[in-house]
Amino acid sequence: MKFGILTSGGDCSGLNAVIRAICLYIEQNVKNAEIVGIPDGYGGLIRGESFPLKQEDFSDILDRGGTILRTSRQPFKMMTVAENGSSRLQRMCENYRRMGLDCLFTLGGAGTHKTAALLSMEGCNVVGLPKTIDNDIYGTDVTFGFQTAVEVATEAIDRIRTTAASHGRTMLIEIMGNKAGWLTLHAGIAAGADMILIPEIPFSVDRVCDFVAAQRGAGKAYTIIAVAEGAVLASEVKFKKSERVFVRTERGESTVTQHLAEVLQERTGYETRSSVLGYLQRGGTPCAFDRLLSSRLGGYAAQLAASGKFGVTAAVAGNRITFNALTEIAGKYKLVAPDGDIVRFAKSIGIGFGV
Ligand code: F6P
Repeated sequence: MKFGILTSGGDCSGLNAVIRAICLYIEQNVKNAEIVGIPDGYGGLIRGESFPLKQEDFSDILDRGGTILRTSRQPFKMMTVAENGSSRLQRMCENYRRMGLDCLFTLGGAGTHKTAALLSMEGCNVVGLPKTIDNDIYGTDVTFGFQTAVEVATEAIDRIRTTAASHGRTMLIEIMGNKAGWLTLHAGIAAGADMILIPEIPFSVDRVCDFVAAQRGAGKAYTIIAVAEGAVLASEVKFKKSERVFVRTERGESTVTQHLAEVLQERTGYETRSSVLGYLQRGGTPCAFDRLLSSRLGGYAAQLAASGKFGVTAAVAGNRITFNALTEIAGKYKLVAPDGDIVRFAKSIGIGFGV
């Protein structure tokens, strides 16, 4: 059998651990197997590029951040648009066949899974793997890369806490997550944030100001607010993302965090600062949890492929590794439930959500 592997979308820790586990499983269990890497995600498949993945390529990469295959973002909406006589989807299917692949492993997030479902519907044998620091892939309890990002963000908040305390400041820490607030929620709780603002729970600036003033009035010397980059003001919910960006740019503010920091300082009178964690959360060595999860998912996905099970993506359900049909999960997101267990718990210990 000939297997291809690609990594697509924003990178995260654990991609190399998955690649290694897929290759090790195949090496140990499939006779006369050939494995190729496809560079730059779907970009490489569109261009028809591949290279052999040999033992020396996939040993010693378990703990390495990033992806040895490189990655790129390829917008889903462009996949079926005809350009110079054929669409990107058609070119990918042609190249899949020309390369003589029996199976393609696609390591990626929600967008990657949508394209993987298309490829599968066009007759390519695809097995997906759930990657993202956002933890928003439908049908899996957890994605690889998420826990490492939680560790990074938690440590960052811990560090900011000491400087917040020294100065008696309100500190806003902007954490990645455009549609989903999982990372902000988990890191915020783990680091003892006073308030957590996430896209799923639109907030009111008035409520945030009241909360900070009340806490300080009750003797709290500083305030820590974890803000997801995709957090929205209740008054902005009616706007599309592009319209929100336009309105903020018009006001001279690039992000909701910046807006909130300025308003908070002005209205509460307490010095307020913000820090954007950004790509720190995607880089570096995977934590032990992600190394184990990535290895289990990679081995399991290779086992599915070797047994001829395609059109699926590996997933975690409880403590079990399982799979979902790509067509069942494509286009769906797993978001934080505003009235779910974890939010209710956070509220029960006094964490504010700006509502
Ligand atoms: O991969 C997920 C993610 O890190 C999001 O949390 C973030 O909004 C986005 O990717 C950033 O994307 P890019 O790498 O294209 O700037």
